[in-house]
Amino acid sequence: MSAALEVSGLEVAYRAARGFVPVVRGVDLSLAKGRVLALLGESGSGKSVTLRSVVGLTAREGARVSGRVRVLGQNVLAMDSRRQLDLRGSQVGFVFQEPMTALDPVFRVGDQIAEVLVRHRGATWAEGMARARALLDLVQIPAAAQRLRAYPSELSGGLRQRVMIAIALACDPPLLLADEPTTALDATVQIQVLLLLRDLQKQLGTAVVFVTHDLGVAAEIADEVAVMYAGRMVERGTAEQVLLAPEHPYTRALLGCVVRGGYAEAPLVELAGSPPDLARLPPGCSFAPRCLSAFGPCGTTEPEERARKAGHWARCHL
Ligand SMILES: Nc1ncnc2c1ncn2[C@@H]1O[C@H](COP(=O)(O)OP(=O)(O)O)[C@@H](O)[C@H]1O
Ligand code: SF4
Ligand SMILES: [Mg+2]
Repeated sequence: MSAALEVSGLEVAYRAARGFVPVVRGVDLSLAKGRVLALLGESGSGKSVTLRSVVGLTAREGARVSGRVRVLGQNVLAMDSRRQLDLRGSQVGFVFQEPMTALDPVFRVGDQIAEVLVRHRGATWAEGMARARALLDLVQIPAAAQRLRAYPSELSGGLRQRVMIAIALACDPPLLLADEPTTALDATVQIQVLLLLRDLQKQLGTAVVFVTHDLGVAAEIADEVAVMYAGRMVERGTAEQVLLAPEHPYTRALLGCVVRGGYAEAPLVELAGSPPDLARLPPGCSFAPRCLSAFGPCGTTEPEERARKAGHWARCHL
């Protein structure tokens, strides 16, 4: 049985004034069906580019992409853009940070959902609308029948986010990619949307990769956690392993930044400084300039992934 998602050696570089700048550097990840992976890391660490590459979006905007991406065993990077589009509609749901990037302001909500089903599932328009109605119920939009006829601008941010989740789930995709799906929302609405996503995931058995910088959210809904820094994955393990017993100094610092008890028992580690300029990466470990534990080899040799416990590894010389 193939995994929901298998990424190996993913490299993504964007063209800049002086040649290509690597923004994703050799990312590997695999996710079994029905599992939830949270992707953590500061802004600019390559989380969105990784997710967008999984469905072929970065290559389309001119990035240089190499490595292997398989969704349910299918080689995404080798697909032509039509097949990628079909994959995005029917097998991979994508929830973006800002719903208006995914919703078309000039079409009614119901029409947008029905269209997905007509295009990817060969539904008739009437079937599409009936399913759209059911999907709005599923994502708990009150007065679904009226909301079907609304334009996106007539809905609150929370409802638009739910509509986007409904569109992403329209074809029951086995894989859902959610890029900070709730950051645009108020705290209380965020929690509602997240709990809803988690319930739907459980109901439908969807595999989910979820980008967040909220560790509480990761602890709440993830089975597994991966941490990115400067385009690399630096730690990976079960949610418990990574959040309760982080091995990488960067992960520890990230956790230390959170004003929230109950995670690491270690004293608060401050995360000072900012991520490196990807066009001028330091030699050795990219985190070395900010790392309080840096020692001899850190400034010269890049650390490899090293297993700590079964299923838990970190990329650090310590
Ligand atoms: N379309 C693009 N063109 C050029 N650079 C980009 C583009 N998209 C992202 N980047 C760069 O790639 C790096 C990683 O970005 P991103 O994946 O969005 O980070 P995040 O972890 O915050 O989601 C950043 O340095 C960003 O500036
Ligand atoms: S390799 Fe060295 S600099 Fe990098 S995180 Fe580990 S201890 Fe810190
Ligand atoms: Mg992002």
